Amino acid sequence: MTKTAVAVHVRTNTRTAAPARYRGRVTSTTASFPGAAGPREPDVGDDLAASTSEASYQRALRRSDDLEAQIAWDPSGLRMLTGDRPTGNLHLGHYFGSLRNRVRLQDAGVQTWVVIADYQVITDRDGVGPIRQRVRSLVADYLAVGIDPTRTTIFTHSAVPGLNQLVLPFLSLVTEAELRRNPTVKAELEATGDRPMSGLLLTYPVHQAADILFCKANVVPVGKDQLPHVEQARTIASRFDRRYGRAAAGEHPVFPRPQALLSSAPSVLGTDGEKMSKSRGNTIELGMSAQETARIIKKAVTDADRRITFDPEHRPEVANLVMLAALASGREPHAVAAQIGDAGAGALKRLVTESVNDLLAPIRARRAQVQADPGIVDDVLAAGNAHANEMADATLREVREAMQMTY
Ligand code: TRP
Repeated sequence: MTKTAVAVHVRTNTRTAAPARYRGRVTSTTASFPGAAGPREPDVGDDLAASTSEASYQRALRRSDDLEAQIAWDPSGLRMLTGDRPTGNLHLGHYFGSLRNRVRLQDAGVQTWVVIADYQVITDRDGVGPIRQRVRSLVADYLAVGIDPTRTTIFTHSAVPGLNQLVLPFLSLVTEAELRRNPTVKAELEATGDRPMSGLLLTYPVHQAADILFCKANVVPVGKDQLPHVEQARTIASRFDRRYGRAAAGEHPVFPRPQALLSSAPSVLGTDGEKMSKSRGNTIELGMSAQETARIIKKAVTDADRRITFDPEHRPEVANLVMLAALASGREPHAVAAQIGDAGAGALKRLVTESVNDLLAPIRARRAQVQADPGIVDDVLAAGNAHANEMADATLREVREAMQMTY
């Protein structure tokens, strides 16, 4: 992520008007999955390689607007899957970038599934780290921000054998060259420095497609850089149905064609103006105390100009602080900058600290409640994993039937 990532990208909000094509739409059958009855079944290798092109991004933005309209009009046919790798604590970047959106979609009535992608931790590192503790901390963060386990299934994919078994037939539907071309795999390989590519890193988009498809999710909220994953899942879904005779007219497709729901959230940077990451010590974690938060913001990098403006291109560090205060308090960044005016970076930091701590106070209180009773996290994971296993077993049954592997 570059420094200019702070730039807000604004999309037209189509939420109030439901387009005619959603009216009276039947949403309870597979045929209503977005894209299932779409105009074309791309043979996709090309779509995948081009999935980071500007044209493809623009198409994804338009489709996201359509999805938002459907969410507002009738979310009952929509099922969303998203997730996280348990590699560290969640921070404000995650909160504004994805967690808040998940809660919004859950509350709007979209069926919600959240995968804790524990196997993905070992794609590009040797060990799992303090995995149990990290998974539990992730669940505590989810509950604290308002993910409701009575409406959302929270599960760890290592605990769902049926999901993992889908990876075998899925692997037969992709080529090694295609996986090597996947822009996200390439980027992650580069980020690991000189490490050789592991088989799991090369094939993890296929595993991720299993995360999405085992529960027949048709909506996957992602950032721009993750679009190739969703494209890969669409490719696998359509190739599976074609190869096993489920794509012909009148046949019941086994899988939906999942669509990316691009987030309109601006990215926030760390307190030094660089990408938020634990190793840089520039993150504000959801689990931090108000005092720790104040201390980190106090150390934040600014510049010599006393007058506070919102100028992400020329003043990325100051703009990022302005953006944090704006996001935390639900205001426009320019209004926040104007309020501080000539009062300088000290005043800006005080405002950021106050807004962030106000936002996080109820989240911290809920987190503390959850942590006081370890049984809560145990129960959430046990119920989520049981539900995910039921779903995975049912999907695997359909896959075996389509492949005539029923004995
Ligand atoms: N790759 C995601 C991450 O790095 C986590 C993830 C795993 C995921 N499976 C997924 C996200 C399926 C969306 C859909 O955080």
